[in-house]
Amino acid sequence: MTQRIAVVTGGIGGLGSAICTRLADAGRKVIAADLGNREERIAGFRDQVACYGDQIEFAAVNVADFEDCQRLINSLQQRHGAVDILVNAAGITRDISLRKMTPQQWHDVLHVNLDGVFNMCRQVVDSMCERGFGRVVNISSINGQTGQFGQTNYSASKAGLHGFTMAMAREVARKGVTVNSISPGYCRTAMVETIPEGIRDQIISQIPVGRIGEPFEIARAVDFLSADDAGFITGVNLPVNGGGFISF
Ligand code: CAA
Ligand code: NAP
Repeated sequence: MTQRIAVVTGGIGGLGSAICTRLADAGRKVIAADLGNREERIAGFRDQVACYGDQIEFAAVNVADFEDCQRLINSLQQRHGAVDILVNAAGITRDISLRKMTPQQWHDVLHVNLDGVFNMCRQVVDSMCERGFGRVVNISSINGQTGQFGQTNYSASKAGLHGFTMAMAREVARKGVTVNSISPGYCRTAMVETIPEGIRDQIISQIPVGRIGEPFEIARAVDFLSADDAGFITGVNLPVNGGGFISF
């Protein structure tokens, strides 16, 4: 069987890098797509995944820029062939209460977290449909399900992802393409480290399993949803949150 090509945006971040190694362990060729122009971080990532050789490679992209996403996917298609698996994990926070939030803080988060998913999916949807296979996994958040103080921008972007996921899933279902989202709870990454310590401790103390999540626990769910034999699972949201939001 030919090797599946997977693109992971936010691929050198906390969750993204765990997703890259998990998908590589599952035999995929993985492209970690993340912001360029930061040699030290990219070199650190390359060191981290060196044992995978050319099975994991880095490619620069700004997901908020439609043309840049187009350039990335065109160049990957020329070098490796069509993309089989797209994991949208690029994301940012600009936490502040609505009463103080600037239009810039609102737009920055919506541009990356929501427009970025459109910008990437739009590049791969035709070829996935034409070839009759595709797996799209959008990384949303528990805070898109519950709302969070200081995150009207982030919660809106992540809730919006669910609508996008469900609608796209319907459009491509007959073409062998599945589209799902994962809603992680709080996990041990740089994003969560920026929360003031007192607030972070309080949040973690309320997680039913009694601890923060580890990136590999999210990667495991991505592997599950992107498997070849996961073709009957589409349009769903998979919460992976230590019981942080229990619902049905
Ligand atoms: N809950 C309730 N009240 C709060 C509060 C909270 N979490 N945070 C602040 N307040 C209160 C303050 O006590 C203050 O009250 P008074 O006016 O009576 O004094 C009022 O709200 C305004 O407080 P601030 O001026 O401090 O508010 P701010 O605009 O500066 O924002 C904040 C504070 C930065 C949002 C801070 O609350 C915070 O960092 N909260 C955590 C947000 C969070 O969970 N982010 C998740 C990031 S990780 C992630 O997003 C990954 C994921 O998907 C899970
Ligand atoms: P992270 O470590 O900050 O990783 C996110 C990566 O995306 C970073 O490398 C980031 O670069 C990159 N990025 C930011 N803007 C980008 C852009 N315009 N184009 C391409 N890449 C961009 O955060 P994480 O915790 O791994 O989060 C990954 C995803 O999971 C995000 O969508 C996040 O919202 C979601 N999530 C995280 C948690 C959690 O608890 N960690 C929970 C629920 C959901 P910079 O570092 O320069 O910003």
